[in-house]
Amino acid sequence: MTRTSVRYRCSECGYESAKWLGRCPDCGEWGGFDESTPLGASATPPGRPVPVAAVDATASVRTPTRLPEVDRVLGGGLVPGSVTLVGGEPGMGKSTLVLQALGAMAASGVRCLLVCAEESAAQVRMRADRLQTLAPDLLLVAETSVPAICAHVDAVAPAVLAVDSIQTVQDPDAPGAPGSVGQVRDCAHRLVRLAKDRDVAIVLVGHVTKDGALAGPRALEHVVDTVLSFEGDRHHGLRMLRALKHRFGATDELGLMEMTGEGLAPLADPSALFLGDRRADAPGSFVVPILEGARPLCVEVQALVGPSQLPVPRRVTQSVDGNRLAMLLAVMARRACVRTSQSDVYVSAAGGVRVAEPGADLGVLLAIVSSVRDQPVRADMVALGEVGLGGEVRQVPQAPRRLAEAMRLGFRRAIVPRSTPEVAGMELLRADDVIDALAAARLVGD
Ligand code: TYD
Ligand code: MG
Repeated sequence: MTRTSVRYRCSECGYESAKWLGRCPDCGEWGGFDESTPLGASATPPGRPVPVAAVDATASVRTPTRLPEVDRVLGGGLVPGSVTLVGGEPGMGKSTLVLQALGAMAASGVRCLLVCAEESAAQVRMRADRLQTLAPDLLLVAETSVPAICAHVDAVAPAVLAVDSIQTVQDPDAPGAPGSVGQVRDCAHRLVRLAKDRDVAIVLVGHVTKDGALAGPRALEHVVDTVLSFEGDRHHGLRMLRALKHRFGATDELGLMEMTGEGLAPLADPSALFLGDRRADAPGSFVVPILEGARPLCVEVQALVGPSQLPVPRRVTQSVDGNRLAMLLAVMARRACVRTSQSDVYVSAAGGVRVAEPGADLGVLLAIVSSVRDQPVRADMVALGEVGLGGEVRQVPQAPRRLAEAMRLGFRRAIVPRSTPEVAGMELLRADDVIDALAAARLVGD
């Protein structure tokens, strides 16, 4: 006997199961399984399978946003019929980014509609004036109702629609207040359907909560085609755009912009910005060529170590991982006899870029020792390598690309893991372990 097994679907994240579950194993939500949507029981499938070569590949046609750093992350631009979610903390500049992108597209003849559900049209116009990106053809409407947004799309037939934000629009047919899980999910589904039906590229702005998750249901990330994250340090102008999910391209590109008085400007040479105010003769400073996505960046790591007055000395990090620091201090003490148990240790990365990858270990360690010994290191030196618990220096991915970026910025010496391939024009000081590295940096104790 063949019987289509009734499938249950988590209304929160879309996880499917053959039997009913109280708690979703995927998103952890309780009571989200819905019996009323049995799957796999459809009598007439809506489409007919065709050979892959016969499929119309219109998805490869993209509408460039005309903001080079955004296009870099999107792999060329927005795909018609796709939905892109731009997430970021409040105040990061999401509305500015969307306004600039739509303004630039409208100025190049693309029909664009911006739906403001948070600000009045007058506020948006004032911002556009200030950004000097006032595109006369950009269509603007202050609207919070999703059915009304659909009607506007039918009326003006835009190629690109942006909704700012998904948490402030609502569907009168769905229960709950705007921003609630049910409302956000329902509105997102309706807008996704609108994108596919009308072949319009939709950009949704979404707020993230303090812990970095998108406010609203996780299903939001599943139903859209692309999730972009707009990040930055509130105290710095640097803004980073990266793709967390992208159905039409790679997710390892990083867009770098700077928030200026006139909006977001592309950052042509980020490493130069990070190193611009560096005092190379100061102890405790070391430059590390890190990899952000596919992009090599040279970042200055600074350390300050001094005697502590506290029973438990302080370990303070900014843009550097605290657990990684604790591990490096332990390795230093055991493998290189550099003890900091009576000292306060402060470590930060300049410029607001997070230095989180293990490849930066060696540079962080050398910056700390440079501060402990109160000896500066050579100004033209960088360091690359992951430090293991045994004190060994391990290789990092894509070393040649990182070293090429360091060379471009004028660095001529690099302390690197033993196995690193030669780089013309760069003197490589190969280190097996942290003792070798300290000798190469001339940071041996007295
Ligand atoms: P906004 O785009 O409103 O952020 P979001 O939509 O993510 O909440 O921009 C927020 C901040 O950006 C605001 O505090 C002021 C700053 N800003 C500039 O520094 N320069 C500018 O040109 C603009 C428009 C904003
Ligand atoms: Mg906003």
